[in-house]
Amino acid sequence: MAYLALYRVWRPGRFDEVVGQEQTVTALRNAVKTGQLSHAYLFSGPRGTGKTSIAKILAKAVNCENVVEGEPCNQCSTCRDINNSNFMDVIEIDAASNRGIDEIRDLRARVRILPAQGKKKVYIIDEVHMLTTEAFNALLKTLEEPPDSVIFILATTEAQKIPATILSRCQNYNFRRLTLAEISQRLQQVADSNDIDLEEAARDLIARRANGGMRDALSLLDQVHSYKGHKITGQDVMSVLGLVDENFMARLINAVLTHEIAEVVGLLNQALVEGKEALQIVREASLYIRDLMFYRLLGEDVLMSYVSETGKKYLKQQKDLVSPSDLMKALKVLMGAGEKLKFSEGQKFLLEMSFMEITALFAPHEEAKKAPPERKAAAAPEPKERKDALEGTWNKILAGVKEVKIPTHALLCQGKLLGARGDSLYIGFKKGYKFHKERLEENPNREIVEGVVKEIFGKNLDIQFIFLDDNQYNDIIVKRAIEYFGEDIVEIKD
Ligand SMILES: Nc1ncnc2c1ncn2[C@@H]1O[C@H](COP(=O)(O)OP(=O)(O)O)[C@@H](O)[C@H]1O
Ligand SMILES: [Mg+2]
Ligand SMILES: [Zn+2]
Repeated sequence: MAYLALYRVWRPGRFDEVVGQEQTVTALRNAVKTGQLSHAYLFSGPRGTGKTSIAKILAKAVNCENVVEGEPCNQCSTCRDINNSNFMDVIEIDAASNRGIDEIRDLRARVRILPAQGKKKVYIIDEVHMLTTEAFNALLKTLEEPPDSVIFILATTEAQKIPATILSRCQNYNFRRLTLAEISQRLQQVADSNDIDLEEAARDLIARRANGGMRDALSLLDQVHSYKGHKITGQDVMSVLGLVDENFMARLINAVLTHEIAEVVGLLNQALVEGKEALQIVREASLYIRDLMFYRLLGEDVLMSYVSETGKKYLKQQKDLVSPSDLMKALKVLMGAGEKLKFSEGQKFLLEMSFMEITALFAPHEEAKKAPPERKAAAAPEPKERKDALEGTWNKILAGVKEVKIPTHALLCQGKLLGARGDSLYIGFKKGYKFHKERLEENPNREIVEGVVKEIFGKNLDIQFIFLDDNQYNDIIVKRAIEYFGEDIVEIKD
């Protein structure tokens, strides 16, 4: 048997099989019942929320031979042909394709031709925002004097790109994202009827990840199902989708909000070790903070739909710890980090830096206000003193390495000690010294440096070799490094 993607099998075939979009469904079904149809409709909204599905239901309903209560029968040959995209009078045009543009071009002539098989000709024009100006004009002319026997259904994910001249000639329906509950329920239904044992945690994770789109939810289920078979746990979903689990994120953000830097760094490292991607962590953290902000600003009702029960419990505890403006700032930092992570080396470093930065944002305000400037000055050495401390330590490391292996020393000489924090020691290289940096990252060089560093500091430090000056982003990193390392350099003096 040919394999059919779940989302295709589960395309709603009648108005009453559509999940959500109640107003749209009710209005259209009534229009069919009373025969008060418009010549043109515009369906706009996020992908996978039912635009194409409802367009086809409407196309069937206006052509079906046995409509009951505004619903198509799905049995008659007309309905069946439309379901199989085999009906001459229902014309689907993908505006994003070349063929689509051609089809619009001679639309004006073609719409005059009476329906061949059915009662109404229905043009479904998908991704209509992709039309060229020329094609829009052709479409507009047709919409200005539509023949009685034609209905246009335009669909788009980007309503703001549709010219006002077109908008004003259509009846507009906004499709909303589906709620977490709606998606979960459908997932359960699909799982049940396919003999898939879908753990609740798994279902929640998929639903949440789908971000309001039913197609994505079903595709994700398909994906996990094809890897993991008929029993699906939350862990399975996380491993297949590379998701960071909710508890982890809640703990991480807790540590950020309560300013527990060691915990933040520890959790990040743990996640990386477990194979999570830095970019993914940043994205999930942004989502989480966004939720927290909405909760803080708009109250629980807004959350109801998107956040799971466990998630809500955490958010409830956390929301009083923060101000919306700090959350906003944190979001900006994370979004910036997300952009940079796409292109950078030194992912771990960048990840840690961004979380340090947002942790600093949430430093307890009292402490920030009351802490006398002297305290800071006492802890962080003056720049010159700091520089000397760094240089002294660096010379010790170099000397130690030279004793063990001269070639390693030669490589290391081109680097520069930036500082240490937590369990990491950072050594920077200018862009031209890529070769040196890469050799040092390999064993035995890395082991030799680690050994010497351990002797000097009396503990194991994870050595991070990073680029210094290849572009602006590294500048930023180094600046931040210097800001953040201030206090720790005292610690590494001996
Ligand atoms: N509102 C909905 N109710 C039930 N299933 C939906 C809904 N929206 C989308 N789907 C599922 O997603 C698939 C794609 O939906 P589609 O109508 O093509 O979305 P759109 O055109 O908005 O991108 C459908 O086949 C169906 O499985
Ligand atoms: Mg579509
Ligand atoms: Zn029918």
